[in-house]
Amino acid sequence: ALVSMKDMLIKAKDEGYAVGQFNINNLEFTQAILQAAQEENSPVILGVSEGAGKYMGGFIAVTHMVKGLIESYNITVPVAIHLDHGSSFDKCKEAIDAGFTSVMIDASHHSFEENIKITSEVVAYAHKNGISVEAELGTVGGEEDGVTGGIIYADPEECRKMVEQTAIDCLAPALGSVHGPYKGEPNLGFKEMEEISKLADLPLVLHGGTGIPTKDIQRSISLGTAKINVNTENQIAATKVIREVLANDTKVYDPRKYLAPAREAIKTTVIGKMREFGSSQKA
Ligand code: G3H
Ligand code: ZN
Repeated sequence: ALVSMKDMLIKAKDEGYAVGQFNINNLEFTQAILQAAQEENSPVILGVSEGAGKYMGGFIAVTHMVKGLIESYNITVPVAIHLDHGSSFDKCKEAIDAGFTSVMIDASHHSFEENIKITSEVVAYAHKNGISVEAELGTVGGEEDGVTGGIIYADPEECRKMVEQTAIDCLAPALGSVHGPYKGEPNLGFKEMEEISKLADLPLVLHGGTGIPTKDIQRSISLGTAKINVNTENQIAATKVIREVLANDTKVYDPRKYLAPAREAIKTTVIGKMREFGSSQKA
């Protein structure tokens, strides 16, 4: 069933696990992630970046694809379609109007006051429509869809103020995580995470889930993280299999011959994450 993230994340935080946001890039990603969720009896969040949305034909095409698969696969676990790193009020509105059930407004590169203002506008429009909202403070490192930047740690006091002044449903405080593969071990700000958790009583979100060791995942969850975003790991798993198939059979031309095994690899990766995050059997 298509739902917002609100209840999903409150339940996850209460019960001490995290729901995975797995980004979709095409049909096969969407199929794999939905099937993994159903098999694991896990809630799931389908993340759609603006770039991936455009690639798939726009937000309307994405909603119809997801709804179609939910129906034909008989998906009964809770599923949210979530705009990942929404860059403006207009983009969030466009996603909501197209049928997304959740949006992230990432105004983290603006001043704090501006971030609060834009986020509040998104919350007002989203909540009127029963849609959940994620906001960000600080800067996630690395690159995603051409959005690059160095790591800036979120300020716990600003997190408190943001939660007090806006009615966001969850908050992504950047605390040293990176989009894309890590160079060496990630260095997450657990001290700040704990402080933010105490100051702001709402589910926290961890971006850059690819390559974070299990012990850090568990520690994050114990400190109030209820949503973990994973994109690159599925992309790597899919592309690795495609390379192998093409290398082993230079005559292959039917795309299904390499996309079906790629889809299988994504599904296996997602199932592993759901078990690691503790969301399996929690639908
Ligand atoms: O918003 C998306 C995530 O933060 C994905 O990060 O590609 O490093 O797994 P990742
Ligand atoms: Zn992210």
